[in-house]
Amino acid sequence: MKTSIISLLGSTLDAHGAHGKDRWNAWRPNVALAMQEDLHFDEFHLLYQSQFKSLADSVIRDIKTASPDTEVIPEIMEFDDPWDFGEVYGKLYDYALSRRFDREERDWYVHITTGSHVAQICLFLLNESHHLPGKLVQTSPSGRGPQRTSGPRGTYRVIDLELSRYDALARRFETERRDDITSLKGGIETRNAAFNALIETVERVAIRSRDPILLTGPTGAGKSQLARRVYELRKAKGLLQGAFVDVNCATLRGDQATSALFGHRKGAYTGAAADRPGLLKAADGGLLFLDEIGELGADEQAMLLRAIEEKRFLPLGSDKETESDFQLICGTNRDLGTDVAAGRFREDLLARIDLWSFRLPGLAERREDIEPNLDYELENWNARTGKRISFNKEARTRFLAWALDPATPWRGNFREFNACLTRLATLADGGRIAVGDVEAEIARAAAVPGGGRSGGAAKGSGNSGGSGSSGGSEGSGNSGSAGGGSADSLAGLLGEGYEDKFDRFDLAQLREVVEACRESRTAAEAGKRLFAVSRLAKKTANDSDRLAKYLAKFGLSFKAVATAGAD
Ligand SMILES: Nc1ncnc2c1ncn2[C@@H]1O[C@H](COP(=O)(O)OP(=O)(O)OP(=O)(O)O)[C@@H](O)[C@H]1O
Ligand SMILES: [Mg+2]
Repeated sequence: MKTSIISLLGSTLDAHGAHGKDRWNAWRPNVALAMQEDLHFDEFHLLYQSQFKSLADSVIRDIKTASPDTEVIPEIMEFDDPWDFGEVYGKLYDYALSRRFDREERDWYVHITTGSHVAQICLFLLNESHHLPGKLVQTSPSGRGPQRTSGPRGTYRVIDLELSRYDALARRFETERRDDITSLKGGIETRNAAFNALIETVERVAIRSRDPILLTGPTGAGKSQLARRVYELRKAKGLLQGAFVDVNCATLRGDQATSALFGHRKGAYTGAAADRPGLLKAADGGLLFLDEIGELGADEQAMLLRAIEEKRFLPLGSDKETESDFQLICGTNRDLGTDVAAGRFREDLLARIDLWSFRLPGLAERREDIEPNLDYELENWNARTGKRISFNKEARTRFLAWALDPATPWRGNFREFNACLTRLATLADGGRIAVGDVEAEIARAAAVPGGGRSGGAAKGSGNSGGSGSSGGSEGSGNSGSAGGGSADSLAGLLGEGYEDKFDRFDLAQLREVVEACRESRTAAEAGKRLFAVSRLAKKTANDSDRLAKYLAKFGLSFKAVATAGAD
């Protein structure tokens, strides 16, 4: 195999000793290359600026003296400013494109010791991008350790940027990727092939892209959690510095929604006592997670689209636009395609946010992950409470048989699963979950309307026991069971004609909620009833806050609901 090298003339280093005899005692990188005993070049491409022609001639002569078999090919390359990156890179790039490097027939080297530092960087970059072939060579006047030499020959090192050749490095990259994927899964070992494949893609997108991500899937499947983990991964990698801003769009309605998201100026509306920067601004440089994006009103959808595309928006009451550069993840358990068809969601907004769309499977679709999750959650419980809880053998077998049974629906998915374990762990005597505890839990789940429903109480996913049908007849649609019976419980709260403003689906649920409020003395008590199952899985069960947010969607408060029912 023949060998060729590309090298720049070093106007300082190659001029050591100038033209006198002394020059043979000085280290001159290009001549030193030709003097190496174990490195022979058939071709030596020497690039130089015409103003250094006489130095180039002298160096070429000395290369030939040191290595008579080497053919030196002088090539002129002019730089107006050898420290100007754009110029130097551009010229070396043109050079690289204009040559046909016979990569198969020759071993190529690129010498990066001479030339301005900018030129050295450019040679490195062009080699790394494969525009310049072969390996890099670095020469130096003296070596280290056993190779220590000095004098005119100095030493050299060869650096091969073909990273795939470095097994150890490749393994490190692989380990790093594994770690990233594990962190996205929260450290839980998962066996479901489809879920694992999905997370691997999420990992790549999380690291390589800044484009919006849409997470879909049933309630409790882990969308909110994954969004936060993507943020944490990006933050750990230095891909963003700002905050994680988590917004549930279902809790935003009307003026409040616009102001909460986009901010307002003092006095923009009654009650706007001070400037408010808004959540989009809070996410500047960070990540905005818009959960339940399908619940966003039409105005907010339009403003959001513009904010995503132009990174600017107009706060309420302001005549000056605000800028915010945020990364975006949206979550929904609705089918936004259907919402677009029904005119409830903007098609252009959907197109903008679903470039990367991932559907998280529900627990029933990944039953092979139930067992690893069981162990993980028990460990979690132990760490959290400092108490050791475990299943006895029979109880574990019984629990898994039930949990893995296709007839167990797991509608609330991980939220329901975790709540179930929390109950078992809490009720277990002496730190052991016995088969009786499991049987009781199975019976409890069977008694819940819908067979194991959980967690969806605030989401509208659970049918609230069939109380919601207001019938097809005209008039004020009697609420049937809720609200203490006779009169329409909602008309007084929402005003006449409310049926035209809200979906029947939402109203059915609201009736149930209103009923629970009226049966309770405080918001906390009502919340406790309404979120009886899902609250167990939460670290802090802020029932009254959850209830307040839910009621706010209808412009209601606990007090308004409870007092309206009292007369
Ligand atoms: N892979 C998982 N393994 C174990 N627990 C999980 C997993 N994913 C989520 N969880 C837990 O399940 C609960 C619900 O998760 P999360 O809030 O992310 O669901 P979601 O899809 O956003 O639901 P929703 O649509 O109701 O907002 C949380 O308590 C979370 O910690
Ligand atoms: Mg969520």
